[in-house]
Amino acid sequence: MDGTIRLMMVGCGGISYEWLEALKDRDDAVITSLVDLNRAAAEKRKEEYSLDCPIYGDYDEALKLAKPDVVIDLANAWAHFDITMKALAAGCSVFGEKPMCMSREEGRILMEEAKKTGLAFNVMQNRRFLPGVRALREAVRSGALGRIWNVCCEIYVNADLTGGRNTLEYPMLQDQAVHSFDSARFILGADAVSVYCHSYNPVGSHYNGDGSGACIFEMSDGSVLTYNAVMDTNVMKTAWHSQWRVIGENGTALWNGFDDLPTAEIRSDDGSVSRIELPLPKDWDGISWFPGGINEMLTAYREGRESELTCFGNYGSVAMTFSAIESAKTGRKTAVK
Ligand SMILES: NC(=O)c1ccc[n+]([C@@H]2O[C@H](COP(=O)([O-])OP(=O)(O)OC[C@H]3O[C@@H](n4cnc5c(N)ncnc54)[C@H](O)[C@@H]3O)[C@@H](O)[C@H]2O)c1
Repeated sequence: MDGTIRLMMVGCGGISYEWLEALKDRDDAVITSLVDLNRAAAEKRKEEYSLDCPIYGDYDEALKLAKPDVVIDLANAWAHFDITMKALAAGCSVFGEKPMCMSREEGRILMEEAKKTGLAFNVMQNRRFLPGVRALREAVRSGALGRIWNVCCEIYVNADLTGGRNTLEYPMLQDQAVHSFDSARFILGADAVSVYCHSYNPVGSHYNGDGSGACIFEMSDGSVLTYNAVMDTNVMKTAWHSQWRVIGENGTALWNGFDDLPTAEIRSDDGSVSRIELPLPKDWDGISWFPGGINEMLTAYREGRESELTCFGNYGSVAMTFSAIESAKTGRKTAVK
């Protein structure tokens, strides 16, 4: 494909800053339109980034007039389905924010539509592009830790009531959890098979819905993933990337989520134990965080290949949230589907 990729950014709130920062130095893609129900939000971003493009308050009108190649969907979670469906129907690919969808039914329809149109529908999972996550994945992939049987990730962070999070019934599961679920799938190279989830809202929580919970997942590689989340504490906090322990037959890796690289203790055949900093994979280009995710989406788009962030792969992560919610409601172990 020749020429610069024309991008329409829909939703100019908090997360648009990360996308605009990552896009500002690229010469292969350009923002040619901004859309927000709240025009003032779009005006602000236009000015901050000296963008030379029209602003629209109405998405349907914008799609008709601006004719982008790609819609960047940074609207609130509940608007993603409608925005993506309309973009695909208009012949535009979509690079969207997480979560991919709000229900299994939405996910099924979106994937069918993406398949039918042959257009790209990618979902941002920026944590896949963290050195710590890449190094853990490499430790699993290379066999350095041996066969993995236990992964534990925990997140203890302050409440984030922006972006409509306090309208969610299960903010712990419906907002941040998909990042850690996706990281776990990426690290293990495995999918979740079943989940038992206990969800609750602790005393003193600022959330209306359940801001805390614990999940136990059985994974397709035979390992067990536990996730403990407290989304409203201002003491002894972890990174928003979670803190991680990955246990295999030959050793254990720990990553606090703050440092770049995890450490591991690995047993040798003679029984001795050595402590090492886990190396990064040699085949990783090192472009991290949002620039890494956006680079992967744009490169795949140009090359006409499926990206690492395709909706077809991403569904396995968002499905973990749907099944965890079902388990929390029924109190039963539930298949992840
Ligand atoms: N990848 C990450 O690390 C990360 C971090 C934070 C948020 N997010 C995700 O990014 C998305 C946006 O979050 P945010 O914090 O920027 O929210 P926000 O509320 O700050 O901004 C959302 C913007 O979208 C606009 N909007 C909503 N519906 C629209 C529509 N139909 N047409 C046009 N504009 C519309 C709103 O007016 C608002 O300005 C969410 O899906 C959230 O889960 C991802």
